[in-house]
Amino acid sequence: MATTVTAPEVRARKGGDRLVMVTAYDAPGARIADAAGVDLILVGDSVANNVLGYEDTLQVTVDDIAHHVAAVGRTRPRALVVADLPWLSYHTGVGDAVRNAGRLIRAGAGAVKLEGGRKRLPVVEALIDAEIPVVGHLGLTPQSVLAMGGFKVQGRAGQAVRRLLDEALALADAGVFALVLEGIPDRVAELVTDSVAVPTIGIGAGAACDGQVLVFHDLLGLGDRPVPKFVRAYAALGRDATEAIARWAADVRSGAFPGDAESYHLPAETARELGL
Ligand code: KIV
Ligand code: NA
Repeated sequence: MATTVTAPEVRARKGGDRLVMVTAYDAPGARIADAAGVDLILVGDSVANNVLGYEDTLQVTVDDIAHHVAAVGRTRPRALVVADLPWLSYHTGVGDAVRNAGRLIRAGAGAVKLEGGRKRLPVVEALIDAEIPVVGHLGLTPQSVLAMGGFKVQGRAGQAVRRLLDEALALADAGVFALVLEGIPDRVAELVTDSVAVPTIGIGAGAACDGQVLVFHDLLGLGDRPVPKFVRAYAALGRDATEAIARWAADVRSGAFPGDAESYHLPAETARELGL
């Protein structure tokens, strides 16, 4: 992988310049994100909701993620490409986890991300033993949607906050080079950020994190449903795209498209020959 940003460089940004991560699922998305100068591109399993039309992330497979990682990787971005390990790709044993992570690395990723705390430590250690950099993910972990009983903010009760902090410390000890914190109160994310030695990257986790991540489609207003409270949309590309296609459709129907400049022309000689 010809990434310019490396996992050790991300790790070294703890407490320094804030890290910027955005999801991308295909080549144009990766080119757009990389041209904007982000540090990390996440090929998230949120491809399920944002691209593949599923309601949650439980439907996507290693094959699906590898397909999208390959598209992103072919653009050779400067940003570090992080691939999500999808549900069931690391829950059936460390051997499966390492093999599946290896497939995503060979597809073009420079690191993998997985969800969960203490119960993932054997997998995290096995991946790191296999020389694969790992990003952790705690808080509202979408692969736990059934167990959580919905997409709910986590870490609100005292016991839950203590457990979250303990799991963050354990993951950092095990060697993750960064930690995504999703859907937790800002003060909890601040406590974790102040306590762990690796950068935290927040989404719906307040301003104290060492970095932020958003979903490409949310950030650009490309989604087809209301966005969560933690999203700030910097564009309305979905609306703009619909308007553009509607204008083109009207031009087609009126005969205004294509115009002369959008048409190929017969050479004058051929036209003469044919009497046209
Ligand atoms: O898949 C995803 O988009 C993610 C981010 C929300 C962190 O995991
Ligand atoms: Na994800």
